[in-house]
Amino acid sequence: MRHLLDTQTLSREEALRILDVAEDMADTQRREVKKLPTLRGKTVVNLFFEDSTRTRISFEAAAKRLSADVINFSAKGSSVSKGESLQDTAQTLQAMGADAVVIRHGASGAPRTLATSGWISAGVVNAGDGTHEHPTQALLDAFTIRKRRFGDHSRGRDLADVKVTIVGDVLHSRVARSNVWLLTRLGAKVTLVSPPTLVPQDMSNWPVDVVYDLDEAIAAGPDALMMLRIQLERMNAAYFPTEREYSRRWGLDARRLQALGADSIVMHPGPMNRGLEISAEAADSPRSTVLEQVANGVSVRMAALYLLLAGAERTPAENPSAAG
Ligand code: CP
Repeated sequence: MRHLLDTQTLSREEALRILDVAEDMADTQRREVKKLPTLRGKTVVNLFFEDSTRTRISFEAAAKRLSADVINFSAKGSSVSKGESLQDTAQTLQAMGADAVVIRHGASGAPRTLATSGWISAGVVNAGDGTHEHPTQALLDAFTIRKRRFGDHSRGRDLADVKVTIVGDVLHSRVARSNVWLLTRLGAKVTLVSPPTLVPQDMSNWPVDVVYDLDEAIAAGPDALMMLRIQLERMNAAYFPTEREYSRRWGLDARRLQALGADSIVMHPGPMNRGLEISAEAADSPRSTVLEQVANGVSVRMAALYLLLAGAERTPAENPSAAG
């Protein structure tokens, strides 16, 4: 794998490969000594032009557990504030020896530009670009759903017959987009629930059903209910109901939590707006996989960096000499 830029162009086989390597990585994380020597001598740069807690820290943890050196770059406090371009910033970091660049940027398409411009030779991982995609979030979500469904027998399995309902601000959500492409490619049936003003105008090529009534969607019996963050910072000209109205019609409250099937899980990519799209009761309930998703994110990002940088056809499990 040369880059990881989106899930729209990721094949079913590539996606399953990442999920299966992530299973191996998760196995290594249960050991007393978590660190693998696999990426010793490699340098991973975390290039973040937007704020992040989970993604940045889990990429850092993933790289360090594979013994890579990590350089963290945050646009705040850097020469970006003096007008330095993406090209000059990236080339500066490459000159310091970057083998992989993990980039989060407010502009949709920035990671692809970095990967295809010829400015740098490092592998590029999209850690979220504008409203476009957030592929590793979708991969860790798919990993979490698969793990909950198949447990220790997850390897090689897709998500055929799994019903996933994604609720909220689809218009601004890169998480929703990446999940739509990935989950449907893995065979899941995906339904979107949103206020009519918060869905994209043209969804003709989206392989999903769209409904506007959350109670109706819950009555259909989803296996996973994924609540999206309301992105007030990206709302611009989009019409948003009042927070009270949004919460009443599209929020996951105690009543709706009770209406879910016995084995349904509640997901959220974080950060959560408690009391808006999800109640504290739902966020902290035994059905919630929020923290499981965070933990799985480290394994999935280890897998992505491993496949990008180790250039190995075999996984650590298949290649014990690399497993330290
Ligand atoms: N889910 C997610 O991308 O969270 P962060 O913004 O904290 O990285």
